[in-house]
Amino acid sequence: MDYEMIATETQGRVGLILLNRPKALNALCDQLMTELGDALRGYDNDTAIGAIVVTGSERAFAAGADIKEMQNRTHPATALDDFIGKTWEVVTTIRKPVIAAVAGYALGGGCELAMMCDIVLAADTAKFGQPEINLGVIPGAGGTQRLTRAVGKSKAMEMILTGRMMDAAEAERANLVARVVPAADLIAEAVKLGETIAGMSPVATAIAKRAVNRAYETTLAEGVGYERATFLSLFGTPHQREGMSAFIEKRKPEFS
Ligand code: CAA
Repeated sequence: MDYEMIATETQGRVGLILLNRPKALNALCDQLMTELGDALRGYDNDTAIGAIVVTGSERAFAAGADIKEMQNRTHPATALDDFIGKTWEVVTTIRKPVIAAVAGYALGGGCELAMMCDIVLAADTAKFGQPEINLGVIPGAGGTQRLTRAVGKSKAMEMILTGRMMDAAEAERANLVARVVPAADLIAEAVKLGETIAGMSPVATAIAKRAVNRAYETTLAEGVGYERATFLSLFGTPHQREGMSAFIEKRKPEFS
């Protein structure tokens, strides 16, 4: 697929996806989300890639779903069309770790897109918010659920009911992001993080991602049971042998 609204590039074993619709602050229209889904799937199926970074511009990661595109949507046509579901949910089906590198605005669907990723790395310029209430609607791509799980009920309620934005320092304190870095270093730090992940066993990485995500979907007992079963399934695999032998032999493991 030729892309118009995103750009892709690989840096080592990291697949980089740049949201590239600057005039609309990367508003997430259908075409952009279709292109993003296609690029994510492409990297997911590429054995040379071990991790994916999604980023925007200095000014905006993404300022939300495209309000101009949504303005005249009506129900039930919108529901029958599976608006959001058919393009956005792709992000949650990717097996490889996806890092959101966020600078500037991550609002509405932009914040939700970041939260669908596995790790959020924020520039010190990042601003997160769910301002849909100002438009007479509510978040529609998981914001009420993922923000609440990330920052807790009180702060999620405040943000969703008032549309207030959170700066990067507050987002880090609230556990919405893994780490805050200077804006100038954002992409380099995200790629470095992706390279670290890509250097691990791809099997253990995919299973670890799935197991952490289980924590959001199931009870503690079932989640721990899933973890135990998948942990045990890794024994006897070439990567378990290599990882443990390398430790004992005091060398760096080679996970091919
Ligand atoms: N959709 C469509 N266009 C958007 C947009 C969006 N979400 N956000 C910004 N733009 C456009 C603006 O319309 C403007 O275009 P024009 O120059 O053609 O008028 C351009 O991007 C630049 O924006 P501003 O002039 O508004 O820039 P600013 O610096 O003054 O303000 C901002 C920046 C605070 C982010 C402001 O643009 C804003 O509030 N944007 C909307 C944020 C929002 O409400 N997001 C939620 C969308 S709904 C949603 O996401 C639903 C869901 O859960 C899936």
